[in-house]
Amino acid sequence: MARVDVIRVKGGARLAGDVTVGGAKNSALKLMAVALLAEGRSVVANVPRITDIAIMAEVLRRLGCDVTLDGTEAVIDVPSEPGSEADYDLVRRLRASICVLGPLLARRGYVRVALPGGDMIGSRGLDMHVAGLARMGAEISGEHGFVIASAPGGLHGAKIWLDFPSVGATENILMAAVLAKGVTEIDNAAREPEIVDICEMLNAMGAKIEGAGSSTLVIEGVDGPLKPVRHTTVGDRIVGGTWAFASVMTRGDVTVHGVRPEFLDIALDKLVNAGATVEPGDNKFRVRMDARPRGVDIVTLPYPGFATDLLPMALGLAAVAEGSSLITENIFDGRFMFVNEMVRLGADIRTDGHHAVVNGRDRLSGAPVRATDIRAGAGLVIAGLCADGVTEVGEVHHIDRGYPDFVSDLARLGVEVERTDVPEPTFDF
Ligand code: EPU
Repeated sequence: MARVDVIRVKGGARLAGDVTVGGAKNSALKLMAVALLAEGRSVVANVPRITDIAIMAEVLRRLGCDVTLDGTEAVIDVPSEPGSEADYDLVRRLRASICVLGPLLARRGYVRVALPGGDMIGSRGLDMHVAGLARMGAEISGEHGFVIASAPGGLHGAKIWLDFPSVGATENILMAAVLAKGVTEIDNAAREPEIVDICEMLNAMGAKIEGAGSSTLVIEGVDGPLKPVRHTTVGDRIVGGTWAFASVMTRGDVTVHGVRPEFLDIALDKLVNAGATVEPGDNKFRVRMDARPRGVDIVTLPYPGFATDLLPMALGLAAVAEGSSLITENIFDGRFMFVNEMVRLGADIRTDGHHAVVNGRDRLSGAPVRATDIRAGAGLVIAGLCADGVTEVGEVHHIDRGYPDFVSDLARLGVEVERTDVPEPTFDF
């Protein structure tokens, strides 16, 4: 009989205490790909202990690297000539593995990576990755579900304007440009702290990148080989932001350690507008709330705008806030897919295109629901904390992809929570 993992929470909890957040998934995965650019042993420290990191380790092993995951360290030994193929069986499980495209093209002059396909939050194209690498001299084609890129004579520097500050396209172009001949300028580049983290690791390896954290990245290609380094991953602002919203929604008092509050400026400001008290500190912040939150309008935008990955938490806050809120999603076309699950918890949400109108309710009502992606899963569990009775969130393997110690952190903050493996009934024909 098939079995599914569920998280069960009892509503009515007030989150209180301290929680420590590890390294950012969306940085650590790419830092592991950065390691491909130098022969020898690189160490990425402060990696979160999540499934995605284990899959990325496997992607690198298949490319000939020797990878050990030891606690929160990924030790990656890169051969002089890494492989140049990433197969569908792994790429379909980890979209982020497309980030090996840039570094392998730079080192091998040829790469064949399976197309990741769409996922539950939207279609997620690769046109900007492809156009950027093509401007640097790569020949790129698509065949049998693979992207094939080659640059037998090496890549050259180019001026690249991105239509949109795509995180993945910025990363792939950046990783390819560090070994290209001449200067590459990426305009309208993504500015996320995770991009800055990648630039810092690359510069420590000997790359020459200026403008990290701004919209213009200038990369002077270097001739000689890069050297392996040890680099510590930046804290996960999305996990930190999740706890901040959870604190406000449950009228709690939570101190988040391991994340710089300035990386969450807009999100924390929204919580202040909702009535919370936020005390920023050095690589930590405290979020307190002692009344019902007020509704606030939220618009997701590329960094430093409000992060799309916190959209499910924003909807959860709006669902229990006083008054109505208008929530607008601008990054992923499928982000609202999980709204029907929130409605099962009694939330009053109507969507139209990329807008959601939410009329807050004093309490939600516990029910069985299903996680559709990482952030939706976490958002549903937290909404369940504000519901009468028990909420059972199914398919929580999604949550495991982004939140290393979710259940134990919830328990430590005072939630009655359990994770169980329940049999799924089968029906014979
Ligand atoms: N897009 C294109 N063409 C491209 C590239 C992107 O149309 O060539 C579109 C996408 O379809 C999407 C939008 O642009 O609608 C944003 O895509 P972006 O490239 O910025 O995002 P990503 O690199 O695919 C990363 C994170 C996401 C996070 C976004 C936005 C990783 C592994 N993923 O995705 O994280 O939501 O940036 O900040 O870094 C998550 O952690 O749950 C997650 C989904």
